[in-house]
Amino acid sequence: MTDLPRRRRILILFAHPALHRSRVNRALVQAVRDLEGVTLHDLYELYPDFDVDAEHEQDQLLRHDLLILQHPFYWYSTPALVKQWLDVVLQLGWAYGRSGTALRGKQMLSVITAGGSERAYARDGVNGYSIAELLAPLAQTARLCGMDYLPPYVLHGTHGLGEEEIARHAEEYRSVLEALRDGRVDLDAARRRPYLNHSLDAVVRS
Ligand SMILES: Cc1cc2nc3c(=O)[nH]c(=O)nc-3n(C[C@H](O)[C@H](O)[C@H](O)COP(=O)(O)O)c2cc1C
Repeated sequence: MTDLPRRRRILILFAHPALHRSRVNRALVQAVRDLEGVTLHDLYELYPDFDVDAEHEQDQLLRHDLLILQHPFYWYSTPALVKQWLDVVLQLGWAYGRSGTALRGKQMLSVITAGGSERAYARDGVNGYSIAELLAPLAQTARLCGMDYLPPYVLHGTHGLGEEEIARHAEEYRSVLEALRDGRVDLDAARRRPYLNHSLDAVVRS
C-alpha cells in the first residue's frame, strides 16, 4: 500500500480593515472558512488595537505548513496590521538569524484583491510596477525566514466585479486551497506564471 501524501495545514492570516464594506474578500473568506485543514485567523477582529500577541501567533505558525496572507491591496502594499504582525511576530532568533529556524521549509502565499486592472500593473501602465515587483519586501521576508514564497494569487478590477463573478472567484479559491492542502498543485508550473491563479487548468491536478 502506498502512503498518501500528508495534507498541508493552511493558516490564513486575513486582514481587512473595513470588512463590513468588503464584497470580494468577504466572499472569499466565506467560501473557505469551513474547509478541513484550514485555519482562518482574522487579524483585525483579533487585534483591533494592533496589540499582536507574538507568542500566540508563533504557536499558530508552528502548527501549519502554508501561511496565506489574504488582504485587499492598500497603497501598493498590505493593510497596516499585516506590517505590525510581521514586525512583532517574526523575531530574531525565532524566524531568522543563526538559531531562527522555526519557519524553515514552510510556504507563504499572498492572496490579494486589487482595484486596479492587471494591465495597470506594468511598466507602461498607470501603476508603473507589476504586482510581483511591489510584493518584493514580502517575498524577501519569506526567503530570509527560509520559506518558499509562491507566486501570488491576485484578483484584479474588484470594483467592476458583479455578484456572479465574485461567487465564481470564491468557488475557485476554495478549490485551489483544497488542491494546495492535498498537494495537487504543480508548483514548478505555477512558478513559470506571474500569478498562481493564471491558467489554473495547467497548474492544478484534479
Ligand atoms: C485605503 C485604500 C487603498 C487602496 N489602495 C489600492 C492600491 O494601491 N491598488 C489597488 O489596485 N487598489 C487599491 N485599493 C482598492 C482595494 O484594493 C479594493 O477596494 C479591494 O481590493 C476590494 O476588495 P473588498 O471588496 O474585499 O474590499 C485601495 C482601497 C483603499 C480603501
